[in-house]
Amino acid sequence: MSSQPVQANAAAFNPDGLDLVKAAGLERVIGASLERVWENVADWEHLPWLHHSSFSSIDLQDAATWGWRAKLGAAGGESVVELVMDKPASQYVARTLEGSLKGMEIWTVLTPVSTHETAIDVSFHVPTMGDDIVERLGAALEASYQTLWDEDEAMMQAREKALSDAPAGAAPVVLGRRDDVLAKLPMAVDLGGRLIRLERVDDQVIAFRATCPHMLRPLDDCPNVDGTITCPWHGYTFDLRTGLSPQTELRLLDDFGLEDEEGVLTLKPI
Ligand code: FES
Ligand SMILES: [Fe+2]
Repeated sequence: MSSQPVQANAAAFNPDGLDLVKAAGLERVIGASLERVWENVADWEHLPWLHHSSFSSIDLQDAATWGWRAKLGAAGGESVVELVMDKPASQYVARTLEGSLKGMEIWTVLTPVSTHETAIDVSFHVPTMGDDIVERLGAALEASYQTLWDEDEAMMQAREKALSDAPAGAAPVVLGRRDDVLAKLPMAVDLGGRLIRLERVDDQVIAFRATCPHMLRPLDDCPNVDGTITCPWHGYTFDLRTGLSPQTELRLLDDFGLEDEEGVLTLKPI
């Protein structure tokens, strides 16, 4: 791996002097801080998971502080995209190096509006082709970017909320007799601001914190499938029996305990 962008002057517009035309533009205010937005731009891993309606796969070729390069699968075929960040100029470019739109450059300028809002100004530059094709392509790109940013915005806001929520000192929650609890599963309990999910796995009561240890997405809506859950943001799976994941060293958060005192279950904060 080179740990460098493919082109020497990658943060310049159209470094190879290709015949490009601006197909569309998009301006919008995103409800997330500049820090969250940069984090999201650098995060190649979420593309086929959070954006599964746009991308079917990602095969990373390189990533470093300059950005990342990857082969992306989509309904329209495969392409190699290189994303280069120019943080001093508060902008980045996603350049198509291989694929049907080879040469395309999508530039995004980021401007902080407030502590929790960032304006984006996106320009889509495509290889020159017939005017009507450029117009249709521009409209399609703009629509697809609106969807991508809708999906990103929701995740960035969930992460921001999780980062700023300081769980208050919680009192223990008595759940009741183990057999009665088993009969009521699945259920969720608020333990001083921490959402704890209780699931039946192998006829055991399993309690786990409904916050992903990776980037803190809520795990309130991912189904328990034979004792495994999959976080929808980056697709990491967690075994509810052990809290372990094959994709990461992280394990499910365990800042609480499930205690059994003479058959009565109680959730206790740690
Ligand atoms: S937040 Fe990344 S896998 Fe859950
Ligand atoms: Fe995204």
